[in-house]
Amino acid sequence: MKAVLITGANRGLGLEFCLQYAQAGWQVFAGCRDVQNAQDLNHIAEEYDNVQVVTLDVSKFEHIDSLAFSLYGVTLDLLISNAGVYGDSSGHGFGAINYDDWRHTLDVNVLSAIKLAEAFKESLAKSDAGLFVAISSLMGSVADNGSGGSILYRSSKAALNAAMKSLSFDIKPAGVGVLIFHPGWVRTDMGGPNGLCDAPESIAGMRQQIKAFTMQKTGQFIKYDGTEMPW
Ligand SMILES: NC(=O)c1ccc[n+]([C@@H]2O[C@H](COP(=O)([O-])OP(=O)(O)OC[C@H]3O[C@@H](n4cnc5c(N)ncnc54)[C@H](OP(=O)(O)O)[C@@H]3O)[C@@H](O)[C@H]2O)c1
Repeated sequence: MKAVLITGANRGLGLEFCLQYAQAGWQVFAGCRDVQNAQDLNHIAEEYDNVQVVTLDVSKFEHIDSLAFSLYGVTLDLLISNAGVYGDSSGHGFGAINYDDWRHTLDVNVLSAIKLAEAFKESLAKSDAGLFVAISSLMGSVADNGSGGSILYRSSKAALNAAMKSLSFDIKPAGVGVLIFHPGWVRTDMGGPNGLCDAPESIAGMRQQIKAFTMQKTGQFIKYDGTEMPW
């Protein structure tokens, strides 16, 4: 049975990743901050005994370390670093930046991804085809930025992309691959109601790309349908 760890698994894209991998028969470790109130996720865990809900606030490194400790010896085939925050809020654009929010956005969207890779490197390396997936965004593309704004979010996803590109080289000797996704503009709490697709379509597409992954593709930044994204 293949195993996956998913962060931010209680709603949005993370919840759908959890459902689809549970249905596909994977062992799913579903990370979320507030296990007691994660109703949708707990329903999935009740229905599928291959789903284990684990407490994981990715901005708290002690959570990451203690989860890695409790999963010591487990082979992880896939780690999906999905948890993310938008960070920017109305009234706090250029001229009124909230620097505490920016630091938190960087903690959640960037630092946690590398920390997860460090903590779970050995677990991923035990797999024949370990893969670290980062859910980024086209909004992190410098080349695609033709409108400005969203300084906190854009800079965090740009930094995530840079960090993941380096990770793809640094972790390659351990036989672990790295894929960076733009999941599309998806109708979730973050994406809002005007998104261009729903979570099941985005996740099904990313799962297809994950399944077709080979080490030749490590470090690529792609959309859920496999289209290469500009950096
Ligand atoms: N939706 C889109 O259109 C879109 C487009 C491009 C990229 N993305 C990216 O896709 C990923 C998922 O987004 P989404 O649309 O599913 O957003 P969402 O509906 O807002 O869900 C965000 C998830 O991240 C979790 N999270 C936030 N801070 C966390 C922390 N410190 N520790 C652990 N979990 C935390 C949330 O948990 P709580 O419930 O506890 O807050 C929630 O489960 C994000 O990285 C986002 O940037 C989304």
